[in-house]
Amino acid sequence: MKALTVQPLTAGSARLDDIAEPPDSDGPVLVETLAIGVCGTDMEIVSGAYGWAPPGRDRLVLGHESLGRVLEAPTGAAVGAGDLVVGIVRRPDPVPCGNCAVGEWDFCHNGLYTERGIKSHDGYCSERYRIHPEFAVKIDPGLGALGVLMEPTSIVAKAWEQVDHVGGRAHWDPHVVVVTGAGPIGLLTALIGVQRGLDVHVFDQVTTGPKPDLVADLGATYHTGRIEHSCPHPDIVIECTGVASLVFDAMEHLGPGGVACLTGVSGGKHALRVDASMLNRGMVLENQAVVGSVNANRRHYDAAAAALVAADRSWLQRLVTRHLPLEHWQDALMRQPDDVKVVIEVGT
Ligand code: BGC
Repeated sequence: MKALTVQPLTAGSARLDDIAEPPDSDGPVLVETLAIGVCGTDMEIVSGAYGWAPPGRDRLVLGHESLGRVLEAPTGAAVGAGDLVVGIVRRPDPVPCGNCAVGEWDFCHNGLYTERGIKSHDGYCSERYRIHPEFAVKIDPGLGALGVLMEPTSIVAKAWEQVDHVGGRAHWDPHVVVVTGAGPIGLLTALIGVQRGLDVHVFDQVTTGPKPDLVADLGATYHTGRIEHSCPHPDIVIECTGVASLVFDAMEHLGPGGVACLTGVSGGKHALRVDASMLNRGMVLENQAVVGSVNANRRHYDAAAAALVAADRSWLQRLVTRHLPLEHWQDALMRQPDDVKVVIEVGT
């Protein structure tokens, strides 16, 4: 079968390969892949900056944002033939650590977890894949092709959960949220913010393309300036870029008792001049909190499903700015200025 593979840590090594059918060891559920979303992590893997091949192998099948249709499943499993499913990305570490032992693999403590399409386990960008039923999330058939947005939404659902946990340490009645970055993660974060009735402000650099309208049509406010000028002292900041200067901006301009959640992974080295004592003083005297958030567990996929089902379908559709067939994978991996989410169509 065809699969998009890469040699991790080797730039320019991505190619369309012919590989063996998926191994039984990946699980008893056989899934036909319909679509794969491309994200910043895939771009990093393709650029040679991230990623791990499965043990004893040179190449990794790419793809962790998936949508597929079940071809066969054991009797009595929670998913059955014909169901639309999304594969969970992370697998618990084999030790397992305390968190992995209770299904909170997104908080794995020893780093021995694997991630499909990213870390030591083949991804979903092949014509078929196998999976254990507990890692296949059935999606509402009404969502159809939009199910491919489930994985990035699960990342955002976890970030919101972290904000709730940290905010809930005292009386918590947030109103204003700043989201940095109007990529798919930023826009989906804004979606959930609006669904919660918050006053959402999204910051990005572009003034053209689909992003300003996508934000406005959500009922949120789009900004291109600096946080301190247009939206000082928000209750919540969700940072979705990983751009070092924005991360510190987010921390510096948080309101009293505010929570900043960082979801973007910074690449390379970036030295900044920061007034560390001012930052510390402000954070201590105003009880501010900064929390990092990565990955998602089963509970977050369920929350993501609820957010997607409640969202306006035509708005969600506009997030997918390009669809390309698997044969055109090279175009899919070439970032275009107006891209929000690019989707590779693997099957129909
Ligand atoms: C994925 C997460 C993963 C993270 C780090 C993200 O792009 O969506 O599932 O944990 O990368 O590898």
